[in-house]
Amino acid sequence: MGKTNFSELNPAWGDRRPILIGFLCNWCSYRAADLAGTSRLGYPATLRDIRIMCTGRLDPAFVLKALREGADGVLIMGCHPGQCHYQEGNYKAMRRIALLRRTLAQLGVHPDRVQLAWASAAQGTIFAEKVAAMTEIIGRLGPLEWHDSVEDAVPQMKVLSLEEVAHG
Ligand code: FES
Repeated sequence: MGKTNFSELNPAWGDRRPILIGFLCNWCSYRAADLAGTSRLGYPATLRDIRIMCTGRLDPAFVLKALREGADGVLIMGCHPGQCHYQEGNYKAMRRIALLRRTLAQLGVHPDRVQLAWASAAQGTIFAEKVAAMTEIIGRLGPLEWHDSVEDAVPQMKVLSLEEVAHG
């Protein structure tokens, strides 16, 4: 995906582009992102990276906070199944993110706005391809506008208690 005029994918973008938050595992996908950069792989400049020690460390409340505070999508990337440095962190992440995606769908948020993927430290190409693919999906979905689309539809208390549940 080269330079994209996102309003061609969805006119609601106007002159802005998607904002993706990336929660990247320190041991693999964060290094894959580094490799993609040093290898000068081209991918859309839509992702803002946050390094975490393991996808199993990711509290789903962080994802909700990102979406509430302006992200159009959240990409979580970690070590391949069976290769987590903390044994089972990525399996925990799989269960949590699946649950979170179902909950988001019930709130009227397309579940593809939150995605979980794997890339080893040597897979800069896979990292770049995943960012490009997710950017295109979010580009077609359009801006999230959480405050208009979710908080107008769902009482604030419910959203807060959802975060508490996710936290627990
Ligand atoms: S250490 Fe990378 S996903 Fe657990």
